[in-house]
Amino acid sequence: MNDNAKRMAAAAAVEMVDEGMRLGIGTGSTAEQFIILLGQRVQAGLSVIGVPTSDRSAALCHELGIALTTLDETPTLDLAVDGTDEFDPALNLIKGGGGALLREKIVAGSANRLVVIADASKQVAVLGAFPLPVEIIPMARQPIAQRLAALGATVTLRTNPAGAPFRTDEGHWILDGDFGPAISDPAGLARDLSSWPGVVEHGLFCGMAECVLLGTEDQVTIVTT
Ligand code: A5P
Repeated sequence: MNDNAKRMAAAAAVEMVDEGMRLGIGTGSTAEQFIILLGQRVQAGLSVIGVPTSDRSAALCHELGIALTTLDETPTLDLAVDGTDEFDPALNLIKGGGGALLREKIVAGSANRLVVIADASKQVAVLGAFPLPVEIIPMARQPIAQRLAALGATVTLRTNPAGAPFRTDEGHWILDGDFGPAISDPAGLARDLSSWPGVVEHGLFCGMAECVLLGTEDQVTIVTT
């Protein structure tokens, strides 16, 4: 579903990569397309280093011969490329459907530019149809679930296929807060969530994306604010 559109967006992002760049490498099915196409350029002689946003993206990079580094060694990145679950006209994002929001936000925040790759299913007028992932410390589950519910969200603890709580790469849990398409003040909500004890990070990425490369079957549009 939308595979071609994802590949088109990913290909446009790979064209933005120059020799010697320090890259942030995203997570998810669209970012995977980016990694695969980047791997082809690396195999053809391009030299870059990347900081992956998840263990699974790191594994794919290893497989394809893309050199990896850490933010300890390389604290500033030239360009981060990542997917999204939703984006609005101001390029606020909901991310974290794949559970990698914490590392994704750290990497995006360490990059001079964040370029988002997406297909049209991710473009919305108002954020919130996609449940907002909130990464938490397990002991804070109930207080944070109550606070989210008080803001109008239907809250679910994310689980793995065995029914146990899903654990992020950093060992935390995720509450998914379904607000419906009604997050009219993403920056305000982001500030609220960040102030709650026990919230490690949340999936609202406000004012971070430089542009969205929006792929369709046969073209890419650059969406800016
Ligand atoms: C991973 O945690 C997410 O933030 C992904 O970037 C997001 O879910 C987009 O994934 P897809 O490209 O698979 O839709």
